[in-house]
Amino acid sequence: MQEIGIGLLGFGVVGTGVWRLLSENGEFLARKTGVRLSIRRILVRDPGKRRPVEVPGGLLTTRVEDILEDPAIQVVCELVGGLEPARTYILSALERGKHVVTANKAVLAEYGPEVFAAAESAGCEVFFEAAVGGGVPIIKTLRESLAANRIRRITAIVNGTCNYILTRMSEEGLSFAEALAEAQDRGFAEADPALDISGRDSVHKLAILATLAYGAHVPAGRIHQEGIADLEVSDLVFAREFGYVLKLLAIAREEDGKVEVRVHPTLIPEGHVLASVRGAFNGFLLEGDFVGEVLLYGLGAGAEPTASAVVGDLLDAARLITSGARPAPILFRDSPLSLRPMEEVVSRYYFRFSAVDRPGVLSRISGVLGRHGISIASVIQKGRREKGSVPIVMLTHEAREADVRRALSEIDRLEVVTAPTRLLRILEA
Ligand code: HSE
Repeated sequence: MQEIGIGLLGFGVVGTGVWRLLSENGEFLARKTGVRLSIRRILVRDPGKRRPVEVPGGLLTTRVEDILEDPAIQVVCELVGGLEPARTYILSALERGKHVVTANKAVLAEYGPEVFAAAESAGCEVFFEAAVGGGVPIIKTLRESLAANRIRRITAIVNGTCNYILTRMSEEGLSFAEALAEAQDRGFAEADPALDISGRDSVHKLAILATLAYGAHVPAGRIHQEGIADLEVSDLVFAREFGYVLKLLAIAREEDGKVEVRVHPTLIPEGHVLASVRGAFNGFLLEGDFVGEVLLYGLGAGAEPTASAVVGDLLDAARLITSGARPAPILFRDSPLSLRPMEEVVSRYYFRFSAVDRPGVLSRISGVLGRHGISIASVIQKGRREKGSVPIVMLTHEAREADVRRALSEIDRLEVVTAPTRLLRILEA
């Protein structure tokens, strides 16, 4: 039976998951595919570190050259994460004619054009199913199954850590810090969880999805980014009172020849299909012009789901090698794509004003909104305080982001307003 030599770069949560998967299912996969995947070397920082799996000592190395320069290694599996040295490792592997399997969304989002140009000139392929959605096959779905469609919309929950935190805060009343600590314990969070909670990880994933959907490189820097770190439990509670659930969404929409790409906390109706995506699960609602709506759901993070995607890619690489087919790397082309600036986005909005509790306050706030053409759909004010401030929560009809920002900057300067207004966007469909 033909054997495919694999070099693993990194042996953390995902790397040890890949080792376990191949230990448990390797024989079955060999029988099914006729090819044996064999891990020949593993790059680690500390060979003496205690790990959840036992590997023969000779397999571990601290020198990347042991993998890059081994002619028996045909596929390099990059699971180091972060930008550097991961980018250099990927480029070096390609230069040496090795196919690459990677879970690294940051490198693909930031350096996609460079990586895929290197793959093309080396005649190699880069597989990256694990970079977005963990075990959910979103990359193959966009790249292959739905390739015939114009993708009108991608509405997705792509960060398991944020979804876990928001679910635990909303359903169990946990504080942000408690929920984050739980997510870290369970191995969902990035090594630096700031990437998750700032929305950066979601931006990287959306950059990859939008690039695949629209056939042109969507730079991460052009994606509007807001995270969940400064959300208050009260916003989750108010959202529920209005019949909404709060999610960190990655959104791409094509309308009138322009594409909008944004990541921000969003209120969605309790009956929306993504409202039932809870905990560390990811959900992808795609809309193609011919296929209509397609929903993908599954675990977007964690050792086992991510290992499932990585090994699926290793099998694809093995098939490519054994068939002798010509690789066709996806190119993150720098072709013109007209992106809609955030100021032009139209949405419904949730505002939480902090204002003194006095007659006439509401009319002053609504007066400013009216002058900017923003129409109010509903209002609640909670509690009554003689001194200090009260929250006033308003939902609007559709408005333009630029008008909303201008109105809020005026409102936040009113002497009756005691703290900056919290703005959240609402997605109905
Ligand atoms: N930190 C990521 C998440 C892991 O929580 O979704 C997979 O990209």
